[in-house]
Amino acid sequence: MKKLLIISTIGCLLMGFTLQNESSVYTTAQDPLKESIERGAEVYTEYCVQCHLGKGEGIPKIFPPLAKSDWLTKDNITNAIRVVKYGQTGKITVNGEPYNGVMAELGLYEDEVADVMNYIMNSWGNSYDTMITEAQVKKVTKE
Ligand code: HEC
Repeated sequence: MKKLLIISTIGCLLMGFTLQNESSVYTTAQDPLKESIERGAEVYTEYCVQCHLGKGEGIPKIFPPLAKSDWLTKDNITNAIRVVKYGQTGKITVNGEPYNGVMAELGLYEDEVADVMNYIMNSWGNSYDTMITEAQVKKVTKE
């Protein structure tokens, strides 16, 4: 009787363990956009925050905002990917303010470009329903 109890306890533990593992795999597969945004937040902290600042607010006339940027959210998404992939120089108007600065090419990997794009498109009041993928970033050329 004791033996049976031990065996069934082990059985339950094993089952619980398997179920738990399966559910965490399931969550990962469930929400790839959320995962990309989380990775993107880290890319942002490393490569973007010093200019565009913590809430994407930028510095008027020097570093354009990303938060509710009309250029970013209303313009063509390919142009936005191009800026993050290759940098941006020359005249650009963001929320009615002219900028004429230099954002050098940051040398990000294509998956990092996709992740940080998903982050900035879904932070500080920005929202974008489509997930930007590494394959999409790969297709964007310099001009
Ligand atoms: C050294 C400062 C600097 C860094 C670092 C930087 N940027 Fe920029 N960014 C700029 C400047 C300056 C412009 C405007 C360039 C111009 O005037 O043509 C700009 C423009 C942009 C734009 C288009 C305009 C807008 O505000 O919507 C986007 C999008 C952007 N940056 C995203 C990023 C992302 C994402 C990162 C990090 C991966 C990043 N930037 C890192 C300085 C920077």
